[in-house]
Amino acid sequence: MNDTDSKHIQAELEKHKDYTKTDKLEEADLIIINTCSVREKPVQKLFSEIGQFNKKKKDGAKIGVCGCTASHLGNDIIKRAPYVDFVLGARNISKIKDVVDIKGAVEISIENDDSNYEFATPSTNNYRTSVNISVGCDKECTYCIVPSTRGEEISIPPEMIVTQIQKAVDTGAVEVMLLGQNVNSYGKRFSDKRAKYSFTKLLQDISKIEKLERIRFTSPHPLHMDDEFIEEFAKNPKISKCIHMPLQSGSTSILKAMKRGYTKDWFLNRAFKLRELIPELRITTDIIVAFPGESDEDFNDTLDVVNQVKFDQIFNFKYSARPNTKALELSDFEVPNDIGSARLEELIEIHKRHLEQSMPKMIGETVNVLVESLKPNGEVSGYTDNYFLVFAKGSDELLGKFVDIKINEVTRTSLKGVVVA
Ligand code: 5AD
Ligand code: SF4
Repeated sequence: MNDTDSKHIQAELEKHKDYTKTDKLEEADLIIINTCSVREKPVQKLFSEIGQFNKKKKDGAKIGVCGCTASHLGNDIIKRAPYVDFVLGARNISKIKDVVDIKGAVEISIENDDSNYEFATPSTNNYRTSVNISVGCDKECTYCIVPSTRGEEISIPPEMIVTQIQKAVDTGAVEVMLLGQNVNSYGKRFSDKRAKYSFTKLLQDISKIEKLERIRFTSPHPLHMDDEFIEEFAKNPKISKCIHMPLQSGSTSILKAMKRGYTKDWFLNRAFKLRELIPELRITTDIIVAFPGESDEDFNDTLDVVNQVKFDQIFNFKYSARPNTKALELSDFEVPNDIGSARLEELIEIHKRHLEQSMPKMIGETVNVLVESLKPNGEVSGYTDNYFLVFAKGSDELLGKFVDIKINEVTRTSLKGVVVA
């Protein structure tokens, strides 16, 4: 989401304020740092980084801090680093064109207004676009700072979403990534009075867009993966067959303490149902280890789910205590840091072994790839429908095309082969 927010900021500044992007810090008239506050470390890094920017920037260049840490710390950022020119929260990025010229501006309201999502179209790579379908989050996962930085969950009207995707398709995009903290609770609440809507229905609306070939989304919540959604996901040929299912923990009692709303069995049931309907499905996940109170037995439940589902990619995190979260009340049950680190390592090792077993099975297979980029070494790369990253020798003629590639080499995270058609 932050990546897309950054692209929107860039597009707005290019359209309304005549800025262009530079990769050289010393040349910049404006330096923007877009921040995440989900875990503590990046927040700590923020002040040392902006200090460095302040030293290196050219005379008169402005510095802006945007994103979740901006929402969370607000004016304190300017108090602590007075050379920061403006602060813009995660839900206010459409105001970038206004605050950029106001020294000391702090815009961090989490009030809603649909016009907040009408951005200039960001130029991502030419073949894909990302579109926010909702903002905020109504869940109360006890470890998570997001509801307090991004506010209550509000869905963006379906017709606005379709129009935005259509615009990108008209300029050559064939793939869309739908973004929200909790995409499959889409349609519960809009900023205007209108009937409820469902994520499944939105997927159906979007798949009617001609020339749009691939639909992806992140993140869905395992709790809301009902049968209707799973069936649409399985049968709709435009939906990419790679799904993110954030597990967080495999222990039912830790899931309860996290207030995730599902059990280990529910998660396994949903994953197996998906796998049964879609043999080529790839599943990615997020896991937090060392949540307060996590015993060896709880952690073994997580490993058990990992061993049963055999995720294709795992984003692992060690629990990080965050302000404004319920889990702070559990601080007496904190897991010692060395145990947390050992669990993280064990998880990473097990996952590595899974990939070392599964990836070589792709050798000899022919996969269909949307070629997206050309590298200086004469290789092209792109993704399959189930989101394998694939490399092959090739030229710019292949860019934007779907081509068949026969795989003859694998790593743990990518495939390599020869273009056959
Ligand atoms: N500590 C560690 N990881 C966290 N995440 C969210 N909050 C925390 C936290 N306090 C992880 C979750 C989420 C991902 C985006 O970040 O796994 O899915
Ligand atoms: Fe945070 Fe839970 Fe909302 Fe995800 S669903 S953003 S983890 S509160």
